[in-house]
Amino acid sequence: MVACHILVIILTTGDTMTEQKSPFKIKIIKDGPYRVVGDVPFVKKSQHCSSYGEPLDWVDGGELEHKAGSYLLCRCGKSKNMPYCDNIHIDSGWVGDEIAITDGPFGRDLNYYGPTGLTVTKHVRLCMNSGFCVLKDTDFTELTEKSGDPVKKARAIKMVEDCPSGSLTYKLERSGPDVEPDLPMEIADTYECTQYGEIRGPLWVMGYIPIERADGEEFIPRNRVTLCSCGHSRIKPLCDGTHRPLQENALRRKQREERGSQRLQQAQDPGSDSEQGEAKRLSDRVSSALKRLRDSFNKDQDQQS
Ligand code: SF4
Ligand code: FES
Repeated sequence: MVACHILVIILTTGDTMTEQKSPFKIKIIKDGPYRVVGDVPFVKKSQHCSSYGEPLDWVDGGELEHKAGSYLLCRCGKSKNMPYCDNIHIDSGWVGDEIAITDGPFGRDLNYYGPTGLTVTKHVRLCMNSGFCVLKDTDFTELTEKSGDPVKKARAIKMVEDCPSGSLTYKLERSGPDVEPDLPMEIADTYECTQYGEIRGPLWVMGYIPIERADGEEFIPRNRVTLCSCGHSRIKPLCDGTHRPLQENALRRKQREERGSQRLQQAQDPGSDSEQGEAKRLSDRVSSALKRLRDSFNKDQDQQS
């Protein structure tokens, strides 16, 4: 594993971008995995969430092992060795249609304007519901509108920069250039929080790493891209957030089954803790009722004698 970061592959000259050859590439294999060419650093990143389950930050989980030179990452979501490909897509006959357009524009764009020039754009089609931009008491639209307050402006910008898919972008001045966070060229295996526990998210590709479709066509390089690793996105190879309800439902089902089997076990096992507890409570109640009866009987006896 080599932690080699090639710093600049995109040179900005005025308004034009000159692309220089990148030593890194992600090549999509037809109905198969992502072939990562070059020693692209591969890391783990998890969402840090509030007690309400709102993602607030990304937490680095360190570098992950990978084969030197080139490695394969699962795209169908069925590998037993996630996030790496184990060739199960061949036996399962998985079809990985590549639907996403490569050259933009990215469908509907919505603009939000602040009083001092901050302009946030939401490229609706790229949103994969990672949830950084909506908290229980505010969201990026409100923070942008109120960005005359420097604290609110900083919060709006942080929400945009944490957006892994690049669905949110911003300008500091209305007619100025887009500002992008300074991200290293790397791929992150992401984890998201849900109310049922942690789930696996998409592969987060950072730093303008070129991505090439199976037919050889390249996507416009972007600083933040989320690639589907569950195999269910409707805009493959990009993630559209489908992994979330699928895994939430699976976790919810699992928790329900576990609770059901616990109840069954308790009913079948008279020696179980809760059975014993219930038996003890019953016996205590019977003993105290008997004691009350006995006391009252003794009292009657005393009065009669
Ligand atoms: S992907 Fe970006 S725009 Fe969509 S919910 Fe997440 S942070 Fe918001
Ligand atoms: S990882 Fe497949 S839809 Fe998000």
